[in-house]
Amino acid sequence: MGWNLSKFPVAFITGITGQDGAYLAEFLLDKGYIVHGLRQPSTLPDLINIEDLCIRYNGKFFLHYGDMTDGSVLHRILLHIKPDEIYHLAAQSHVKISFDSPEYTANVNGLGTLRLLEAIRTIDKDRKIRFYQASTSELFGSTPFPQCETSPFEPCSPYATAKLYSYWTVKNYRKSYGIHASNGILFNHESPIRGEEFVTRKITKAVARISMGQQNILMLGNLDSKRDWGHAKDYVRGMWLMLQQEKADDYVLATGKTYKVRDFVEKAFAKIDIKLKWQGKGLNEKAIDTATGRVVVAVDKELFRPQEVHCLIGNPEKAKNMLGWSTDISLDELIEEMVEADIKIAKSEANNNLISENVICSNG
Ligand code: NAP
Ligand code: GDD
Repeated sequence: MGWNLSKFPVAFITGITGQDGAYLAEFLLDKGYIVHGLRQPSTLPDLINIEDLCIRYNGKFFLHYGDMTDGSVLHRILLHIKPDEIYHLAAQSHVKISFDSPEYTANVNGLGTLRLLEAIRTIDKDRKIRFYQASTSELFGSTPFPQCETSPFEPCSPYATAKLYSYWTVKNYRKSYGIHASNGILFNHESPIRGEEFVTRKITKAVARISMGQQNILMLGNLDSKRDWGHAKDYVRGMWLMLQQEKADDYVLATGKTYKVRDFVEKAFAKIDIKLKWQGKGLNEKAIDTATGRVVVAVDKELFRPQEVHCLIGNPEKAKNMLGWSTDISLDELIEEMVEADIKIAKSEANNNLISENVICSNG
C-alpha cells in the first residue's frame, strides 16, 4: 500500500550518507517525516550508513544526486521537493585534511552554505523553510574554555575558517531576509558509524583488531588534546529541537565534560581488559600492555596538525534552558558501544577471510 505523502512534513538533509545524516534521517523518519537526502555523484556506492533505512522506509526516503559545489542542482532539488526543514550537514569534515585541501574545504564548507541559502532566498518567498547549519566547536579554536554562544571565535584551521564563513552567512540571511536559519555549534559527537579517520573510531577499531590479533599497534598524534565527546544520537535530537522553535537562534550542544585523547585510549583498552602504562615523552611516548609488556600505542609525528585546538569544553546551558536538550548517553556507554560494534566487525572480517581461504584451498 502507498503512503499519502501530502500529510507528512518534508525534510531535506545534505550529508545524509555521513554519521549525523544517518542518525538524523532515522530520527526524522521515526517521527513520520518524509526524508530527502543529498548524495554525492560517485561511481562507488557509499550508502553503508543508510542502507537499512532505504529498505525500511521505502516510499518515504529519497536520495538525490548533487554536490555542494553545484548551486543549480541544489536549487532544482528544493523546487522539486518543497521541504519544510533543511538540515545542512554536508561538509569536508576532517580538520587535518583541510590543511592539505584548503581551497576545496572553503568551497564546500563555506560557499556550499551560501549556495543553499541563496536557493532558499530565491525559491521560498513565504519564508516557510526552516534551516539548520552544522556549525562547530572548532570555531572557538584557541579561545579560553569553557566555551558558550558568546565566547569569541579563534578558528585554527581551514576547516574552521570555512565554517566561520557559514556561521556568519546564516546569521546574515536570518537578519537580512527573515529566513528561519539556526546555527548548531556542536562539540564532538561520535558513534559506531563515526568515520574511521576520526580519532575515537580509529582507537575503537584498533582496540577491536588488537583484541582479535589482527593488528599489533595503534599509531596516534597528539595524545594530550582535550575534547568534549558525546553520542551523535543525542546531538541529532538537538538539531531537530532547534528547528521546532518559533524563532531561529544559535545554540551550543555539548556535554560540559572534557577528556584527553589518552583518556579515551585508556578507557577503550579497558573494555578488552587491557590496562595500559605510559612510558617515554613526546614523540617517544608509548603505551604498554601491563600484562604482556607489549607496546600497543605509539606516537607518529605525521599525525600532528600544523596548528592544534588544545581544549574544547562546551557550556550547553542555553540549549538546556531554551530547548530542554540534554545528553542521555555517557562517554563510557559510548565507548562500550563503539568497541563492541568494532569487535563484531573484526569478527565478521575474520570469518570472511576464513571462508575465502577455505574456498581458495578447496579450489586449488
Ligand atoms: P561526516 O560523517 O564526515 O559526513 C559528511 C557528509 O557530507 C557525508 O555525507 C559526505 O558525503 C557529505 N559531503 C562531503 N562533501 C560533500 C560535497 N562536496 N557535496 C555533497 N556532500 C558532501 O560528518 P558528520 O560527523 O556526520 O558531521 C556532519 C556535519 O556536522 C559536518 O558538516 C561536520 O563538519 C559538522 N560537525 C560535526 C561534528 C562531529 O563531531 N561529528 C561536530 C560539529 C560539527 P560522502 O559520504 O559521499 O563523503
Ligand atoms: N583524526 C585523528 N587521528 N586525530 C588525532 C590522532 C589521529 O591519529 N591522534 C591524535 N588526534 C587528536 C587530534 O589532533 C585532535 O586534537 C583530536 O584527536 C580529535 O581529532 P578528530 O577526531 O579528527 O576530531 P576534531 O576534533 O579534529 O574534529 C571533529 O570535531 C569537530 C567538532 O569539534 C570533526 O568531526 C569536525 O568535523 C568537527 O567540527
